[in-house]
Amino acid sequence: MTFSTESYRIDGKVAVITGAGGRGNSIGRAYACGLAAAGASVIVADLNLEGAELVAREIVEAGGKAHAVQVDISDAASVARMAAASKAVFGGVDILINNAALMVEVPHGSTLGVTSEIWDKVMRVNLTGAFLCCQALVPLMRERGGGKIVNQVSAGAFPPATLYGISKLALWGLTTTLARELGKDKINVNAIAPGATMSDAGKALTPTDSPFVKAIEASVPLRFRGQPDELVGAMLLLCSPAGDWITGQVLNVDGGWVIRV
Ligand SMILES: NC(=O)c1ccc[n+]([C@@H]2O[C@H](COP(=O)([O-])OP(=O)(O)OC[C@H]3O[C@@H](n4cnc5c(N)ncnc54)[C@H](O)[C@@H]3O)[C@@H](O)[C@H]2O)c1
Repeated sequence: MTFSTESYRIDGKVAVITGAGGRGNSIGRAYACGLAAAGASVIVADLNLEGAELVAREIVEAGGKAHAVQVDISDAASVARMAAASKAVFGGVDILINNAALMVEVPHGSTLGVTSEIWDKVMRVNLTGAFLCCQALVPLMRERGGGKIVNQVSAGAFPPATLYGISKLALWGLTTTLARELGKDKINVNAIAPGATMSDAGKALTPTDSPFVKAIEASVPLRFRGQPDELVGAMLLLCSPAGDWITGQVLNVDGGWVIRV
């Protein structure tokens, strides 16, 4: 086999991306647009239907294929409806990007200071939500002879220092576990760990004038903060035939933050 850059194309594939419609400039929006530009039909799923519809419309107006679906990933019945919609609208599913999560909403202070209700809610969305989406969509991938799953973890998981980081490290655990379980079905399961990304939500977490940003910038080889579009290439590698031999891996896209001294 001779390598061709065509192996980054995903024409004819159906991709489901969660959390792609919530806030204006989101990572999910960048991923959805990237998936469509690479040839996939995209199910743009979010709790926020209006936001999902905006992103789906943007894709269709640019000549791509997309359909918006409202989903609460923490609710199995809602996820089942998303799976059924994917099958009804585009005929099945080949790619799942588990991108939806609670992030800005999570208290970033003392972990022992959070209530068990908040703990359960964060784990329910950030971990169980991805699990439920895998459980609902893997059978559709099996019907089509294989698939790709990408879990959106975080640089904040390596190592975790907050409840949010704990939830993302647990999602990394789901990644390696399912990679082992689903290899026989030709389903690759990988993760992306973005660094501080300037989505609208990310900007709120790390404002330019924060002392935290200035302190950490000095220890990052490239840049501490990046743009949502700078994650899309990694995501397409893991979703396309170019990544067929990659499974159970985390791709850190963070300017080198993970190797900070
Ligand atoms: N921005 C960053 O710096 C950064 C860094 C590392 C990882 N991440 C991860 O990247 C992903 C996207 O982040 P973002 O910066 O675009 O933030 P965002 O808040 O814009 O995106 C999260 C999306 O998830 C949706 N969502 C929340 N709960 C949901 C539920 N129960 N069901 C369905 N959808 C739900 C929200 O509506 C929102 O659209 C998240 O997984 C986040 O943890 C972000």
